[in-house]
Amino acid sequence: MQRYAGKTVLVTGAAGGLGSAMCLRFAAEGARVAALDVDNLRLETACAQWRELGHNIRPFLLDVTDASAFKRQVESIVEEFGRLDVAVNNAGMGGDMAPLAEYPLATWERVMSVNVSSVFYGMRAQIPTMCKQGHGAIINVASIMGSIAMPSIAPYVASKHAVVGLTKGAALDYGRAGVRINAVGPSFVRTGFTASSLPDDSTWDALADRHALAGTASPEDIAATVAYLGSEDARFVTGALYLVDGGYTAT
Ligand SMILES: NC(=O)c1ccc[n+]([C@@H]2O[C@H](COP(=O)([O-])OP(=O)(O)OC[C@H]3O[C@@H](n4cnc5c(N)ncnc54)[C@H](O)[C@@H]3O)[C@@H](O)[C@H]2O)c1
Repeated sequence: MQRYAGKTVLVTGAAGGLGSAMCLRFAAEGARVAALDVDNLRLETACAQWRELGHNIRPFLLDVTDASAFKRQVESIVEEFGRLDVAVNNAGMGGDMAPLAEYPLATWERVMSVNVSSVFYGMRAQIPTMCKQGHGAIINVASIMGSIAMPSIAPYVASKHAVVGLTKGAALDYGRAGVRINAVGPSFVRTGFTASSLPDDSTWDALADRHALAGTASPEDIAATVAYLGSEDARFVTGALYLVDGGYTAT
């Protein structure tokens, strides 16, 4: 499938587990991909892997918590590529695990900055070009925690509910301008993100048991849904949270 031939796609948190799979999926479908991440070393390593697989994915350094840097970086990508068809605001972090009253204040502020403000800054930078073009699609990476909760991670849960809220609000603001804005909600995927909080196989086996489908999601499962939401196949889909959770939240 070459749904993205001639299109430009931007992905943040691109050097991470989900972001890297998204970059590869978009590139495999013909897109020119701008891969943004704050971690230079991770980005270089990911780039080397992408090149080995034959994909020309362009790396860009960006801290998504810096609103003016985000705007400048999007503008320079648009100048270089001539357009911006799809943007995936994927960069995110987990934070600490503690009951709310014991949760470190500094981590609360960091989680809200990296997970929520970044999506606000990103959309503010991406939407003007899409409005000028008369089309565009944004996918914000939320989580099942944008829909349900778990103990000891209230700030993360709040941040992902906020991502869903920003997604719905912005979708209403820009639908008539031809810009579709959706969120994707993965359950548990093995990446660097989950490596520290869910280190052992027995925890993953227990989690897998709580899904209706067998096993847990792969990064490629999430990338496939993101690629659908960015494409013309989803031309009448906006303001939605697409859960990719193997039925985890259906219980
Ligand atoms: N892995 C899961 O189980 C899971 C489940 C639900 C939702 N998510 C969400 O998916 C997204 C990606 O997670 P992942 O599993 O690929 O994690 P990951 O840790 O593998 O990747 C995250 C990437 O974001 C980058 N990043 C962090 N802070 C940044 C900043 N300030 N500016 C730019 N880049 C920054 C990191 O350098 C890293 O490359 C996150 O938003 C996360 O909340 C993950």
